[in-house]
Amino acid sequence: MKNGTNFVPGLEGVVAAETRLSHVDGLAGELIISGFPLVELAANATFEETVYLLWHGRLPIAAELTTFQHKLAAYRPVPPATLALLKSVAAESAPTMDALRIGAGTLSLGISEERDWEIGRLGDSGNLPISQSLNNPLAFAIVARFPTIVAAYWRFLQGQEPIVPRTDLSHAANYLYMLTGEEPSAARVRGLETYLNTVVDHGLNASTFAARVIIATNSDLVSAVTGAVGALKGPLHGGAPGPALDTVFEIGVPERAEPVLRAKLEAGERLMGFGHRIYKVRDPRAEVLAAAAEQMFAADGDMALYELAKEVEATAVTLLAEHKPGRNLQTNVEFYTALLLHGLGLATDLFTPTFAISRAAGWIAHCLEQQRYGRLIRPQSTYIGETGLVWQPVGVRG
Ligand code: ACO
Repeated sequence: MKNGTNFVPGLEGVVAAETRLSHVDGLAGELIISGFPLVELAANATFEETVYLLWHGRLPIAAELTTFQHKLAAYRPVPPATLALLKSVAAESAPTMDALRIGAGTLSLGISEERDWEIGRLGDSGNLPISQSLNNPLAFAIVARFPTIVAAYWRFLQGQEPIVPRTDLSHAANYLYMLTGEEPSAARVRGLETYLNTVVDHGLNASTFAARVIIATNSDLVSAVTGAVGALKGPLHGGAPGPALDTVFEIGVPERAEPVLRAKLEAGERLMGFGHRIYKVRDPRAEVLAAAAEQMFAADGDMALYELAKEVEATAVTLLAEHKPGRNLQTNVEFYTALLLHGLGLATDLFTPTFAISRAAGWIAHCLEQQRYGRLIRPQSTYIGETGLVWQPVGVRG
């Protein structure tokens, strides 16, 4: 029974939120995070500054930043029950992204939520008010504890004990420290911070929308973020930067870039790390991450791998233009994500969980924004099944 509404598969073109958090312009190749062009913010801000910006709508002054950093750092240890659960999950060798989803659901243990806004309260002008002091402890616990969950689980998988988080290190530095037990170099910390800032928010993507739908039922932040982790995990969203890196390794030396990539295209394969549904020019995140990777590899890494990746990228873009003329298939965020995270010493299984460590802050910002609307998200469906069926007892059904 058609009810006259238009069905838009994938909701393309449907506007389901107004946001001050980020703006994606796929034709101009522009990403704005809370007013800042990505290129302005990513390589300059600490991750804590970016989180503050998203949650408060402005950058902190020095004293506010110090308080915010201390508050986040204090939440880093996870409940003992979370660690025990992660240890038993590791015994099954589940992927780290599954462990993060399982661990995320425990983060409300011992914490009761204090909401920052009355549901449905808009400013007199109809504009959304910006909170000056964010008090919801779950917001802090989620962002602070995602790295602890991922690092602890990773170490359990390697047969090692987790490393207790340190409060004197930044969010990014402490994550790398908890993975390895070694204090990372300044170049590595900067590389990771630039990555975390780059992927923290990206319009109404699938996981962000999932989080907004959940919080709009008047549910809690942990439920919203756990659902969002599940959405991010899917290969159509959290992506698979691993295969992009595999191609670079398979090529091995610059001279092999053209024959290997040409053979893949002739066999009908897609080149991983290229093409995007929205961006029809080079993904601005690729630009920022390429520059970050270059800086990090130059200071503290394998420059030959970086040079090889540049050659692979240039060859891929040329061959894609030849093979799929008019498609504008350009480098996407996954290509340099893979290179940067590999350069930081992260295994492929940690790539998507590290994405989630950043995006958690964006999900929470969207939840806070959505809470201020106080409106249940409830679209419609068009029924295309049968009607008027007559009940038959089980014994006489054909
Ligand atoms: N390599 C080769 N050909 C490609 C590629 C690619 N990477 N991407 C698109 N094409 C071709 C398709 O084969 C298709 O050709 P055809 O029309 O002759 O059949 C045409 O370009 C359009 O492809 P669509 O899938 O319709 O384009 P869409 O915009 O939906 O695809 C996507 C976007 C899924 C990212 C695609 O470019 C792709 O598969 N890329 C490789 C995987 C990848 O890098 N994924 C990460 C994306 S970033 C992120 O999600 C965070």
